[in-house]
Amino acid sequence: MRFRTTDLTPRIGTLIEIDRETLLSGAASNQITEILVQRGVVAFRDMEVTDDEQLKLARSFREVEGGKSGELYRVSYDPKENPVGAAINIASCFWHIDRTDVVLPPFATILSAKVLSPPGTGDTEFANTYAAYEDLPDKDKLSIEPLRVEHRMETAFRQAMPDATEEEIALWPNHMTPKIHPLVWRHRDGRKSLILSNSATRVIGMSETEGRALLDRLLAWATKPEYCYRHRWRPGDLVMWNNTGTMHRAHYYDPKCGRRMHRTALVGDEPFDADKVSAVTV
Ligand code: SIN
Repeated sequence: MRFRTTDLTPRIGTLIEIDRETLLSGAASNQITEILVQRGVVAFRDMEVTDDEQLKLARSFREVEGGKSGELYRVSYDPKENPVGAAINIASCFWHIDRTDVVLPPFATILSAKVLSPPGTGDTEFANTYAAYEDLPDKDKLSIEPLRVEHRMETAFRQAMPDATEEEIALWPNHMTPKIHPLVWRHRDGRKSLILSNSATRVIGMSETEGRALLDRLLAWATKPEYCYRHRWRPGDLVMWNNTGTMHRAHYYDPKCGRRMHRTALVGDEPFDADKVSAVTV
């Protein structure tokens, strides 16, 4: 079995060279999961997967998330392609962790390129939130350890669309209830990562200004170039990220350019809040 890995940056991202058939068979899925947990992102070139193949591959890792977005969500500004999310697609251009509106977020996400945007636009960038936490000065680690943050999807949508009209706002999904998550994610294996996202609205117990300043400072820290990998898409690419230890964002692309990606999320088993381990509800 051909299985060659090359680190894409020192702190995040690994390119895996593997035969298409072997990848799709699931024979390497355990090995890939181990790399994903350590490196945050894995990328494959020249895979050209069909939707059925993507779902089969996803199921070789874990159960697939369904819900309102379906098992295979089309990332697109075109409401015909993406009836659920076209109106809020621009929010994906801001740093986020998927599904901060639930207690138990997806473990990982698979994204395959279908229609690319013009070169230099529409790259997907990832930031390693484990590495960012590990490198924080001890003073910061101590002070943020007990903090909790309210997350609202509306905050993410307003940041992305500050001039939205009432008519546009009426198209935003409104079924997502606010959630309070710790700022520091204590993982089962003992590691810790930062929970930062475009949905972060306020730090509980801090004034709005103080809380916003802290969240902005941590976001700037966690997205320094040394923690980031920027994927420049080629036709046939397939990328997977560990949603429990990374943030991601799409670089701006013209909403009319037709860019389309197919996304499948894998069911998670680590709640944001370790104390909720025995009382998980989504
Ligand atoms: C996403 O945020 O899930 C999509 C990222 C992208 O479109 O590159």
